Amino acid sequence: MAFNKLTIKDVDITGKKVLIRVDFNTPLSPDGSVADNRKIEESLPTINYALDNGASIILMSHLGRPRGKVVEEMRLTMVGKRLEEILGRKVIKLDDCIGPDVESVVDDLKPGDVVLLENLRFYSEEEKNDPEFAAKLSRLADIYVNDGFSVSHRAHASVSAIAKHFDMVAAGFLMEKEMGCLDKILTNPPKPFVIAIGGSKVSTKIGVIEHLMEKADLFLIGGGMSYIFQKVLGKTIGLSIFEESYVPVVKKLLEENMDKIVLSMDYTITNMLSVSDRKYGNIQTTVDENIPDGWMGVDIGPKTIEEFTKRLNGAGCILWNGPFGVIEIPEFAVGTNRMACAIADSPAITIAGGGETDEAIDHLNIAHKFNHVSTAGGACLEFLGGKEMPGLIVLTNK
Ligand code: 3PG
Repeated sequence: MAFNKLTIKDVDITGKKVLIRVDFNTPLSPDGSVADNRKIEESLPTINYALDNGASIILMSHLGRPRGKVVEEMRLTMVGKRLEEILGRKVIKLDDCIGPDVESVVDDLKPGDVVLLENLRFYSEEEKNDPEFAAKLSRLADIYVNDGFSVSHRAHASVSAIAKHFDMVAAGFLMEKEMGCLDKILTNPPKPFVIAIGGSKVSTKIGVIEHLMEKADLFLIGGGMSYIFQKVLGKTIGLSIFEESYVPVVKKLLEENMDKIVLSMDYTITNMLSVSDRKYGNIQTTVDENIPDGWMGVDIGPKTIEEFTKRLNGAGCILWNGPFGVIEIPEFAVGTNRMACAIADSPAITIAGGGETDEAIDHLNIAHKFNHVSTAGGACLEFLGGKEMPGLIVLTNK
Protein backbone atom coordinates (compact mmCIF):
# COMPACT_ATOMS: atom_id res chain seq x y z
CA MET A 1 0.00 0.00 0.00
CA ALA A 2 1.40 3.42 -0.98
CA PHE A 3 2.13 5.84 1.85
CA ASN A 4 -1.06 7.88 2.10
CA LYS A 5 -0.01 10.60 4.52
CA LEU A 6 1.00 14.11 3.61
CA THR A 7 4.79 14.49 3.67
CA ILE A 8 6.98 17.56 3.93
CA LYS A 9 7.27 17.41 0.12
CA ASP A 10 3.56 18.17 -0.21
CA VAL A 11 3.82 21.42 1.75
CA ASP A 12 5.11 24.79 0.57
CA ILE A 13 7.84 25.48 3.10
CA THR A 14 9.83 28.14 1.24
CA GLY A 15 10.45 31.14 3.48
CA LYS A 16 8.53 29.45 6.29
CA LYS A 17 9.49 28.46 9.83
CA VAL A 18 9.15 24.71 10.13
CA LEU A 19 8.89 23.04 13.55
CA ILE A 20 10.13 19.45 13.26
CA ARG A 21 9.53 16.85 15.99
CA VAL A 22 12.58 14.63 15.78
CA ASP A 23 13.65 11.87 18.14
CA PHE A 24 17.18 12.74 19.27
CA ASN A 25 16.85 10.47 22.30
CA THR A 26 20.29 8.98 21.69
CA PRO A 27 22.49 6.98 24.03
CA LEU A 28 25.19 9.11 25.67
CA SER A 29 28.74 8.14 26.64
CA PRO A 30 29.89 8.60 30.25
CA ASP A 31 31.50 11.94 29.22
CA GLY A 32 28.08 13.12 27.98
CA SER A 33 28.87 12.93 24.27
CA VAL A 34 26.57 11.20 21.80
CA ALA A 35 27.40 7.48 21.76
CA ASP A 36 25.38 6.60 18.69
CA ASN A 37 24.65 9.00 15.79
CA ARG A 38 22.00 6.87 14.11
CA LYS A 39 18.87 8.78 15.13
CA ILE A 40 20.57 12.06 14.19
CA GLU A 41 21.75 10.74 10.83
CA GLU A 42 18.34 9.27 10.02
CA SER A 43 16.79 12.72 10.55
CA LEU A 44 19.09 14.38 8.02
CA PRO A 45 16.99 13.80 4.87
CA THR A 46 14.11 15.83 6.32
CA ILE A 47 16.38 18.51 7.80
CA ASN A 48 18.36 18.90 4.58
CA TYR A 49 15.24 18.93 2.43
CA ALA A 50 13.75 21.75 4.53
CA LEU A 51 16.99 23.75 4.38
CA ASP A 52 17.47 23.19 0.65
CA ASN A 53 13.94 24.43 0.09
CA GLY A 54 14.35 27.76 1.80
CA ALA A 55 12.87 27.05 5.22
CA SER A 56 14.28 27.89 8.62
CA ILE A 57 13.90 24.96 10.98
CA ILE A 58 13.22 24.55 14.65
CA LEU A 59 14.01 21.05 15.90
CA MET A 60 12.46 19.69 19.06
CA SER A 61 13.12 16.46 20.91
CA HIS A 62 13.21 14.78 24.27
CA LEU A 63 16.28 13.10 25.74
CA GLY A 64 15.95 10.49 28.46
CA ARG A 65 13.30 10.66 31.16
CA PRO A 66 13.98 13.77 33.30
CA ARG A 67 10.38 13.67 34.60
CA GLY A 68 9.54 17.37 34.33
CA LYS A 69 12.75 18.76 35.85
CA VAL A 70 15.91 20.28 34.42
CA VAL A 71 18.55 17.57 34.58
CA GLU A 72 21.90 18.99 33.46
CA GLU A 73 23.13 15.66 31.98
CA MET A 74 19.98 15.49 29.85
CA ARG A 75 20.42 18.79 28.07
CA LEU A 76 20.49 18.50 24.29
CA THR A 77 23.72 20.53 24.05
CA MET A 78 25.95 17.62 23.03
CA VAL A 79 23.33 16.41 20.56
CA GLY A 80 23.31 19.90 19.04
CA LYS A 81 27.10 19.82 18.73
CA ARG A 82 27.01 16.44 17.01
CA LEU A 83 24.24 17.61 14.68
CA GLU A 84 26.33 20.68 13.83
CA GLU A 85 29.32 18.46 12.93
CA ILE A 86 27.25 16.10 10.81
CA LEU A 87 25.21 18.83 9.15
CA GLY A 88 28.22 21.05 8.53
CA ARG A 89 26.36 24.20 9.50
CA LYS A 90 25.62 26.24 12.60
CA VAL A 91 22.99 24.86 14.97
CA ILE A 92 21.57 27.45 17.39
CA LYS A 93 21.03 25.38 20.54
CA LEU A 94 18.68 27.10 22.99
CA ASP A 95 18.49 26.48 26.74
CA ASP A 96 14.71 26.35 26.81
CA CYS A 97 11.96 25.17 24.50
CA ILE A 98 9.23 27.75 25.17
CA GLY A 99 8.97 31.31 26.44
CA PRO A 100 9.92 34.84 25.40
CA ASP A 101 13.67 34.20 25.00
CA VAL A 102 13.00 31.30 22.64
CA GLU A 103 10.40 33.32 20.74
CA SER A 104 12.74 36.25 20.25
CA VAL A 105 15.46 34.02 18.71
CA VAL A 106 12.93 32.28 16.51
CA ASP A 107 11.40 35.60 15.35
CA ASP A 108 14.71 36.57 13.74
CA LEU A 109 15.35 33.31 11.90
CA LYS A 110 16.31 33.50 8.21
CA PRO A 111 15.96 30.73 5.62
CA GLY A 112 18.68 28.13 6.23
CA ASP A 113 18.89 28.78 9.99
CA VAL A 114 18.68 25.78 12.32
CA VAL A 115 17.50 25.97 15.92
CA LEU A 116 17.50 23.08 18.39
CA LEU A 117 15.20 23.59 21.37
CA GLU A 118 16.06 22.29 24.85
CA ASN A 119 14.81 18.90 26.07
CA LEU A 120 10.99 18.99 25.95
CA ARG A 121 10.69 16.69 28.95
CA PHE A 122 12.18 19.32 31.26
CA TYR A 123 8.51 20.39 31.39
CA SER A 124 6.12 17.87 32.93
CA GLU A 125 3.49 19.35 30.58
CA GLU A 126 5.13 17.55 27.65
CA GLU A 127 4.33 14.06 28.96
CA LYS A 128 0.91 15.22 30.18
CA ASN A 129 0.01 16.20 26.61
CA ASP A 130 -0.81 19.62 28.01
CA PRO A 131 -2.74 21.80 25.52
CA GLU A 132 -1.25 25.09 26.77
CA PHE A 133 2.32 23.78 26.48
CA ALA A 134 1.50 22.52 22.98
CA ALA A 135 0.10 25.95 22.10
CA LYS A 136 3.33 27.62 23.25
CA LEU A 137 5.41 25.29 21.09
CA SER A 138 3.13 25.82 18.12
CA ARG A 139 3.57 29.61 18.31
CA LEU A 140 7.17 29.16 17.21
CA ALA A 141 6.43 28.10 13.64
CA ASP A 142 4.21 28.25 10.55
CA ILE A 143 4.37 24.55 9.76
CA TYR A 144 4.66 21.41 11.90
CA VAL A 145 6.32 18.22 10.68
CA ASN A 146 6.59 14.99 12.65
CA ASP A 147 9.68 12.93 11.83
CA GLY A 148 9.81 11.11 15.16
CA PHE A 149 8.27 7.73 14.38
CA SER A 150 10.05 6.26 17.40
CA VAL A 151 8.16 8.55 19.78
CA SER A 152 4.82 8.49 17.99
CA HIS A 153 3.41 5.95 20.46
CA ARG A 154 3.53 8.63 23.16
CA ALA A 155 0.52 10.91 23.72
CA HIS A 156 2.82 13.82 24.46
CA ALA A 157 2.31 17.51 23.72
CA SER A 158 4.94 17.78 20.97
CA VAL A 159 3.56 14.66 19.26
CA SER A 160 -0.17 14.79 19.86
CA ALA A 161 -1.74 17.94 21.37
CA ILE A 162 0.30 20.20 19.11
CA ALA A 163 -1.45 18.90 15.99
CA LYS A 164 -4.63 20.88 16.50
CA HIS A 165 -2.73 24.16 16.20
CA PHE A 166 -1.85 23.54 12.57
CA ASP A 167 -4.03 23.10 9.50
CA MET A 168 -2.08 20.02 8.57
CA VAL A 169 0.52 17.69 10.01
CA ALA A 170 3.09 16.43 7.52
CA ALA A 171 5.34 13.41 7.97
CA GLY A 172 9.10 13.71 7.59
CA PHE A 173 11.05 11.26 5.46
CA LEU A 174 12.12 9.04 8.36
CA MET A 175 8.51 8.76 9.46
CA GLU A 176 7.58 7.86 5.88
CA LYS A 177 10.36 5.25 5.64
CA GLU A 178 9.58 3.62 8.98
CA MET A 179 5.84 3.46 8.43
CA GLY A 180 6.27 2.33 4.83
CA CYS A 181 8.64 -0.56 5.66
CA LEU A 182 6.66 -1.82 8.62
CA ASP A 183 3.34 -1.39 6.87
CA LYS A 184 4.54 -3.50 3.97
CA ILE A 185 5.13 -6.48 6.20
CA LEU A 186 1.83 -5.94 7.96
CA THR A 187 -0.14 -5.91 4.73
CA ASN A 188 1.73 -8.00 2.22
CA PRO A 189 4.82 -9.75 3.58
CA PRO A 190 6.92 -11.76 1.11
CA LYS A 191 6.32 -15.41 2.05
CA PRO A 192 7.29 -17.45 3.91
CA PHE A 193 7.23 -14.77 6.59
CA VAL A 194 9.41 -15.73 9.58
CA ILE A 195 9.38 -13.76 12.82
CA ALA A 196 12.34 -14.16 15.15
CA ILE A 197 11.30 -12.77 18.49
CA GLY A 198 13.06 -12.49 21.83
CA GLY A 199 13.46 -9.99 24.63
CA SER A 200 12.92 -10.45 28.31
CA LYS A 201 9.23 -9.81 28.84
CA VAL A 202 6.37 -11.62 27.15
CA SER A 203 4.07 -8.77 28.27
CA THR A 204 5.72 -6.38 25.79
CA LYS A 205 5.72 -8.86 22.88
CA ILE A 206 2.46 -10.72 23.12
CA GLY A 207 0.59 -8.01 21.17
CA VAL A 208 2.95 -8.42 18.21
CA ILE A 209 2.65 -12.21 18.23
CA GLU A 210 -1.15 -12.07 18.40
CA HIS A 211 -1.47 -9.40 15.74
CA LEU A 212 0.91 -11.09 13.30
CA MET A 213 -0.15 -14.70 13.93
CA GLU A 214 -2.35 -14.80 10.83
CA LYS A 215 0.24 -13.15 8.58
CA ALA A 216 3.33 -15.04 9.74
CA ASP A 217 4.29 -18.57 8.76
CA LEU A 218 6.72 -19.21 11.59
CA PHE A 219 7.71 -17.75 14.95
CA LEU A 220 11.16 -18.50 16.37
CA ILE A 221 10.81 -17.64 20.04
CA GLY A 222 13.83 -17.22 22.33
CA GLY A 223 15.02 -14.91 25.10
CA GLY A 224 13.40 -14.32 28.47
CA MET A 225 9.92 -14.36 26.96
CA SER A 226 10.32 -17.99 25.89
CA TYR A 227 10.33 -19.51 29.40
CA ILE A 228 6.64 -18.97 29.94
CA PHE A 229 5.96 -20.96 26.74
CA GLN A 230 8.15 -23.79 28.09
CA LYS A 231 6.43 -23.72 31.47
CA VAL A 232 2.98 -23.89 29.87
CA LEU A 233 4.22 -26.95 27.95
CA GLY A 234 5.16 -28.59 31.26
CA LYS A 235 8.92 -28.01 31.13
CA THR A 236 10.92 -26.88 34.15
CA ILE A 237 12.29 -23.33 34.00
CA GLY A 238 14.10 -22.98 37.36
CA LEU A 239 14.63 -19.33 38.28
CA SER A 240 14.11 -18.04 34.73
CA ILE A 241 12.01 -14.95 34.10
CA PHE A 242 8.29 -15.75 34.22
CA GLU A 243 5.25 -13.46 34.06
CA GLU A 244 2.59 -15.71 35.54
CA SER A 245 -0.40 -13.54 34.62
CA TYR A 246 0.31 -14.25 30.94
CA VAL A 247 -0.12 -18.02 31.30
CA PRO A 248 -3.72 -18.09 29.94
CA VAL A 249 -2.90 -16.07 26.83
CA VAL A 250 0.27 -18.07 26.11
CA LYS A 251 -1.66 -21.31 26.64
CA LYS A 252 -4.28 -20.23 24.12
CA LEU A 253 -1.63 -19.16 21.61
CA LEU A 254 0.10 -22.52 21.89
CA GLU A 255 -3.14 -24.50 21.64
CA GLU A 256 -4.21 -22.69 18.50
CA ASN A 257 -0.88 -22.19 16.74
CA MET A 258 1.57 -24.87 17.84
CA ASP A 259 2.42 -25.60 14.19
CA LYS A 260 3.75 -22.07 13.72
CA ILE A 261 5.79 -21.79 16.91
CA VAL A 262 9.36 -23.03 17.31
CA LEU A 263 10.81 -22.76 20.81
CA SER A 264 14.36 -23.15 22.09
CA MET A 265 15.45 -26.75 22.59
CA ASP A 266 18.42 -25.99 24.86
CA TYR A 267 19.65 -23.08 26.93
CA THR A 268 22.79 -21.58 28.40
CA ILE A 269 22.08 -21.35 32.13
CA THR A 270 23.67 -19.83 35.21
CA ASN A 271 23.02 -20.14 38.94
CA MET A 272 23.54 -16.44 39.73
CA LEU A 273 23.04 -13.26 37.74
CA SER A 274 23.35 -9.56 38.50
CA VAL A 275 23.06 -7.70 35.23
CA SER A 276 23.81 -4.27 36.74
CA ASP A 277 27.12 -5.52 38.19
CA ARG A 278 27.81 -7.69 35.14
CA LYS A 279 28.21 -10.66 37.52
CA TYR A 280 27.15 -14.24 37.03
CA GLY A 281 27.75 -17.65 38.58
CA ASN A 282 28.61 -20.99 37.01
CA ILE A 283 27.62 -21.53 33.39
CA GLN A 284 26.21 -24.71 31.82
CA THR A 285 24.35 -25.77 28.72
CA THR A 286 21.18 -27.82 29.21
CA VAL A 287 20.68 -31.08 27.31
CA ASP A 288 17.10 -30.12 26.45
CA GLU A 289 14.59 -27.34 27.16
CA ASN A 290 14.35 -28.16 30.89
CA ILE A 291 16.18 -25.88 33.31
CA PRO A 292 17.01 -27.30 36.75
CA ASP A 293 16.00 -25.74 40.09
CA GLY A 294 18.30 -22.93 41.21
CA TRP A 295 19.39 -22.13 37.64
CA MET A 296 18.10 -19.65 35.08
CA GLY A 297 18.20 -19.46 31.31
CA VAL A 298 20.36 -16.62 29.96
CA ASP A 299 20.84 -17.51 26.29
CA ILE A 300 19.68 -19.98 23.67
CA GLY A 301 21.95 -23.01 23.39
CA PRO A 302 23.91 -24.39 20.40
CA LYS A 303 21.19 -26.83 19.24
CA THR A 304 18.67 -23.99 19.19
CA ILE A 305 20.99 -21.71 17.25
CA GLU A 306 21.42 -24.43 14.66
CA GLU A 307 17.70 -25.16 14.43
CA PHE A 308 16.64 -21.49 14.32
CA THR A 309 19.24 -20.77 11.63
CA LYS A 310 17.96 -23.72 9.57
CA ARG A 311 14.40 -22.40 9.88
CA LEU A 312 15.44 -19.11 8.28
CA ASN A 313 16.32 -20.91 5.05
CA GLY A 314 13.95 -20.10 2.21
CA ALA A 315 12.23 -17.26 4.07
CA GLY A 316 10.80 -14.47 1.92
CA CYS A 317 10.80 -12.01 4.78
CA ILE A 318 12.32 -12.07 8.26
CA LEU A 319 11.26 -9.73 11.01
CA TRP A 320 13.53 -9.72 14.05
CA ASN A 321 12.66 -8.11 17.36
CA GLY A 322 14.37 -8.72 20.69
CA PRO A 323 17.58 -10.42 21.83
CA PHE A 324 17.75 -14.15 22.55
CA GLY A 325 19.79 -13.80 25.73
CA VAL A 326 21.14 -11.35 28.27
CA ILE A 327 23.25 -9.40 25.78
CA GLU A 328 24.64 -7.00 28.37
CA ILE A 329 26.98 -9.89 29.29
CA PRO A 330 29.11 -11.00 26.31
CA GLU A 331 29.06 -14.67 27.39
CA PHE A 332 25.26 -14.64 27.06
CA ALA A 333 25.14 -12.73 23.76
CA VAL A 334 26.29 -15.70 21.67
CA GLY A 335 22.82 -16.74 20.48
CA THR A 336 21.78 -13.18 19.66
CA ASN A 337 25.00 -12.50 17.75
CA ARG A 338 24.77 -15.74 15.78
CA MET A 339 21.12 -15.14 14.93
CA ALA A 340 21.81 -11.51 14.00
CA CYS A 341 24.46 -12.61 11.51
CA ALA A 342 22.28 -15.40 10.12
CA ILE A 343 19.38 -12.98 9.57
CA ALA A 344 21.68 -10.33 8.10
CA ASP A 345 23.13 -12.85 5.63
CA SER A 346 19.75 -14.16 4.54
CA PRO A 347 18.61 -13.26 1.01
CA ALA A 348 15.13 -12.60 2.45
CA ILE A 349 13.76 -9.11 3.05
CA THR A 350 15.12 -8.44 6.54
CA ILE A 351 13.64 -5.97 8.98
CA ALA A 352 14.78 -5.45 12.56
CA GLY A 353 13.39 -3.28 15.29
CA GLY A 354 13.68 -2.63 19.00
CA GLY A 355 16.24 -0.88 21.18
CA GLU A 356 18.31 -3.90 22.18
CA THR A 357 18.00 -5.44 18.74
CA ASP A 358 19.47 -2.26 17.24
CA GLU A 359 22.27 -2.34 19.81
CA ALA A 360 23.18 -5.90 18.89
CA ILE A 361 23.18 -5.03 15.18
CA ASP A 362 25.29 -1.91 15.75
CA HIS A 363 27.72 -3.82 17.93
CA LEU A 364 28.28 -6.28 15.08
CA ASN A 365 28.37 -3.47 12.52
CA ILE A 366 25.91 -5.24 10.21
CA ALA A 367 23.08 -2.70 9.92
CA HIS A 368 23.88 -2.21 6.21
CA LYS A 369 23.03 -5.87 5.56
CA PHE A 370 19.40 -5.41 6.68
CA ASN A 371 16.71 -3.98 4.42
CA HIS A 372 15.51 -1.86 7.30
CA VAL A 373 16.59 -1.34 10.90
CA SER A 374 13.96 0.67 12.70
CA THR A 375 15.05 3.52 14.97
CA ALA A 376 12.09 2.66 17.17
CA GLY A 377 11.77 0.43 20.22
CA GLY A 378 8.36 0.71 21.89
CA ALA A 379 6.83 2.45 18.86
CA CYS A 380 7.88 -0.40 16.58
CA LEU A 381 6.20 -2.95 18.88
CA GLU A 382 3.00 -0.92 19.09
CA PHE A 383 2.88 -0.45 15.32
CA LEU A 384 3.46 -4.15 14.68
CA GLY A 385 0.93 -4.95 17.40
CA GLY A 386 -1.69 -3.01 15.42
CA LYS A 387 -2.19 -0.33 18.07
CA GLU A 388 -3.50 3.12 17.31
CA MET A 389 -0.62 5.55 17.89
CA PRO A 390 -1.17 9.18 19.00
CA GLY A 391 1.52 10.62 16.72
CA LEU A 392 0.27 8.76 13.67
CA ILE A 393 -3.45 9.39 13.94
CA VAL A 394 -2.82 13.14 13.72
CA LEU A 395 -0.86 12.90 10.45
CA THR A 396 -2.87 14.45 7.63
CA ASN A 397 -4.07 12.06 4.93
CA LYS A 398 -3.15 12.86 1.34
C1 3PG B 1 12.81 5.62 22.19
O1 3PG B 1 14.03 5.77 22.30
O2 3PG B 1 12.26 4.51 22.09
C2 3PG B 1 11.98 6.86 22.10
O3 3PG B 1 12.77 8.00 22.11
C3 3PG B 1 10.93 6.92 23.17
O4 3PG B 1 11.50 7.12 24.42
P1 3PG B 1 10.63 6.87 25.74
O5 3PG B 1 10.45 5.38 25.86
O6 3PG B 1 11.41 7.46 26.87
O7 3PG B 1 9.30 7.55 25.55
